Amino acid sequence: MAILNTTKMVTTVNGGEPVEFNFYYPHGEIMQSINSLLAKLLANFDQIFLLDTVTTILREIIINATKANAKRVYFKKINLDITKPNEYTEGIQNFKNNVIGNLEELAEDMKKSDLKVSMNINKENGGFKITVTNDVPILPEELERINLRKAKAIEYNDFTDAYDEIYDSTEGAGLGIVLIMLLLKNSGINTSSYVLNSDGKKTWSWIVIPGQTRPNEITTEIKKQIINEVNGLPTFPKNIIELQAMCKDSTVDIDDIAKKIMLDPALTTDVLKLSNSAGFLTQRRIDNVNEALIKIGLKNLNSILVAASARRILDKRFSKFEQIWTHCNKTAFYARNIAQRYKMGAILEHSFLAGLLHDLGKIVLLSTDTKITNWISDIVKDRKMRVSTVMEEVSIGISHSSIGELIARKWQFPEYLIEAIKYHHSPLSASEEYRDLVYTTYLANMMCGIESRKYGYYYLDEDVLERFKINGPEAFGKFHEEFKTMLANNTAKEQ
Ligand SMILES: [Fe+2]
Ligand SMILES: [Fe+2]
Repeated sequence: MAILNTTKMVTTVNGGEPVEFNFYYPHGEIMQSINSLLAKLLANFDQIFLLDTVTTILREIIINATKANAKRVYFKKINLDITKPNEYTEGIQNFKNNVIGNLEELAEDMKKSDLKVSMNINKENGGFKITVTNDVPILPEELERINLRKAKAIEYNDFTDAYDEIYDSTEGAGLGIVLIMLLLKNSGINTSSYVLNSDGKKTWSWIVIPGQTRPNEITTEIKKQIINEVNGLPTFPKNIIELQAMCKDSTVDIDDIAKKIMLDPALTTDVLKLSNSAGFLTQRRIDNVNEALIKIGLKNLNSILVAASARRILDKRFSKFEQIWTHCNKTAFYARNIAQRYKMGAILEHSFLAGLLHDLGKIVLLSTDTKITNWISDIVKDRKMRVSTVMEEVSIGISHSSIGELIARKWQFPEYLIEAIKYHHSPLSASEEYRDLVYTTYLANMMCGIESRKYGYYYLDEDVLERFKINGPEAFGKFHEEFKTMLANNTAKEQ
């Protein structure tokens, strides 16, 4: 499945030898393989937490190198001479209008050209150095503009500082450079580790990932506000705590639990709503608490109580984001059924609860500042980034998964749930103990993201795919279809 033998490459790099490979266009499968390679390299230095940062930086570098090659290919295609100033002005305008944003459409022409992008990785500074080279020189004025932007970007505290200046850049390279610099700063890698230069024939960029880094925290007003909000959250209501204890006590009569729930009409509604919408494979709609208890069992009821109370507290204090909870219900359905399919009995209920609450940090984030969160999601989408958390970190100083973790700790959620919330976008960072649960939550969430076209197959982490024995886009398509059908059948029964 993998197009690069990443395991062999890591052994070579560790042995002190460089590895090199070329491509014409960074298709999804290349990026997926590069991601897997980086994950393995970083894991060696115990720096897997840098994975999303390094992948995002590298993606920007690769896109810039590809764009430079594409420009040449395009000029040739439309019969303009890139070295003649007046033809350059005309061609670059066409390029901006027709190619940037749809770079992939030029992929076939690029394949036919002899211009390629090459990547070289070797051990350096206790870590490793990645060099990306492309076959065309960078124009001196372009290099000057990039260096100016680099110098400016170092001064920024967070990504929003660059807000007004970002879109004025002539060829769209501005944003990428600012992003690279801020990501480096944020992760504690010296900004001078990123170098871009040209010898008049080729252009190369390199970045050195040191063996040790000390993350640099970004502090913004929004982040302070978010942390205050989380600190100010109330604890769980007393009756919920009591109910949870009852669910765990084998001597308690189920009827007593049902009666206690029914004392609280709002809770009764929530329990029924969640029992129905979170997709248990029941024959018909559950319309009373007793029935819910029999159908879903005490362990699942316990999860529903936690999720319902958490949602109630958040919905009361912040804006209501029904869409997020609907997404979470679907994730919970997928997660639970994935656990079932792979006979991971030990995490069946845990994966259900993790699905129900994995995005709770998003509610706080969206309520605090919609403008910036919309802006972030536009950038993530435009630039086809693998994860939004990196952008949240460099713009706000904290990601929705970390906010989720803070809330989970505040509410003294069990460790498995904290891990699933914290790592639902970065599964490789999970501890071995909770890996099955985190991978399941991650995959279920990605399936939802793929359905809403936020992600594609190649965004999926290879290690997760291997764990679930999904080998390739076709196998995944079949797998995904199976769950979609399951959900559709279940929803049909509900009506
Ligand atoms: Fe998320
Ligand atoms: Fe999600």
